[in-house]
Amino acid sequence: MFIRIKNYINYLRAKSRWNWHELTEHDLTYLQIPKDFLWGSGSCEYQHSGAENCSHNNWAEWEEKQIVGKAYTIKQNQKSGISVDHWHRYKDDILLMKNLELNAYRFSLDWGEIEPEEGLYNYEAIQHYIDLCDELKRHGITPMVTLLHFTYPQWFDKKGGFEQEENIVFFIRFCKHMFNILQSRVTLWCTINEPPVMVLMGYILGEFPPGKKNRPLAGIVFKNLLKAHCEVYQALKALPGGPEAQIGIVHSSIHLVSLHWWNIITVGFAFYFNHIKNNAFIKYFKTGKFIWYPHLGKPIRYTNPNAPQCLDFFGLNYYSRIVIGFREIFSKSLIGNCYPGETMTDMPYPIYPEGLYHELMDAAQFNVPIYVTENGIADDRDDRRELFIKRHLYVMSKAIAHGCDVRGYFYWSLTDNFEWVDGFSMCFGLYEVNFQTQQRSLRQGASCYKTIIQNARPSSSDNT
Ligand code: BGC
Repeated sequence: MFIRIKNYINYLRAKSRWNWHELTEHDLTYLQIPKDFLWGSGSCEYQHSGAENCSHNNWAEWEEKQIVGKAYTIKQNQKSGISVDHWHRYKDDILLMKNLELNAYRFSLDWGEIEPEEGLYNYEAIQHYIDLCDELKRHGITPMVTLLHFTYPQWFDKKGGFEQEENIVFFIRFCKHMFNILQSRVTLWCTINEPPVMVLMGYILGEFPPGKKNRPLAGIVFKNLLKAHCEVYQALKALPGGPEAQIGIVHSSIHLVSLHWWNIITVGFAFYFNHIKNNAFIKYFKTGKFIWYPHLGKPIRYTNPNAPQCLDFFGLNYYSRIVIGFREIFSKSLIGNCYPGETMTDMPYPIYPEGLYHELMDAAQFNVPIYVTENGIADDRDDRRELFIKRHLYVMSKAIAHGCDVRGYFYWSLTDNFEWVDGFSMCFGLYEVNFQTQQRSLRQGASCYKTIIQNARPSSSDNT
């Protein structure tokens, strides 16, 4: 009963809009933000360096298989190639961050490049990450490291990846190794990016490797990813530098909402989706209890009373929410709709800044600092980006004013990049990339990000 009421309230909340036209340009660009706030951008090694630079992970193999196999699931048969060659161009990319006056950068380690064979480390790849951290430091940019952003080594995949609980030890070993090397340079650590998305895409929709559609197995992988987070958290905390490190997990809070309140099919579908995508995850970190309902058979249950203590911060990825009508349920990849009067992004969801406010206020219940680890818009025409940035930063400032302890914001992404199954068709970048020349140019709609940062920073006279 309680859940049904909560669902209905969420539905109403999803429809509620703020009166944006009452706000002036000044309201939107002069925000009250704590003075040591981290203003950043985010990336994922595979998305920004591609299979040619990161050839030892499961995604690189998956891309190849898609050609050999019958169905090629990546849009227009694209391949990641060198993507934006961030691996070799990171120094230039750091200058692009400086140009926007960013003081933080979230990036991921490619485990496959670092440990291409079981137990054998590639010290050149490790040096690459040391150099990257040093270069960031030289420019006064705080690094935030993600230990696993969707990709893992092929050898780990062959062993069954996170389908096998006994494989978690390999992930812990890798994390400890990299923590020991980087801990003197890095304080902020994200263990796993979006476990529920890995589960949904890899084991329910079957669009990410390993391309399975198996709900009971999805539940097992989900449980193992949550278990892995806590075990990594505890292992890193026990190492030198562990107590000082801030270690968290990253959750994508995207919710499904029904286009019509009266359609029990779409309401029911949204309920089920939100359970597997959000509620199971949130509940685990609130209560230590995980429960997963496959269609048939017994639910998968797992309890870890320590889970609520395994978070030094909560990483929130927020893009929007997916509105579904009857038709959309049957579309491939959950193609979404929008409510009347809303504007779609290039992704299958609309611009919905109010949702960031609600998600932040909800995340505050964990009583740990929050980082907006991803927020951005795919906008090829660049005619919605400015509005998107201004409104999302505005609602974030309101959440802060209402007591939410938000410590940083990372726009997704600094540059365009390889958007998984959407290939290069989704342009999230503050900087547009010409993939022939690798030239980066600042998008007009992105420059307000710099203005807002400048306005929010205390001037030197405020510090005296
Ligand atoms: C993922 C990114 C992805 C972004 C935009 C996030 O859920 O972490 O890898 O590019 O969404 O779709």
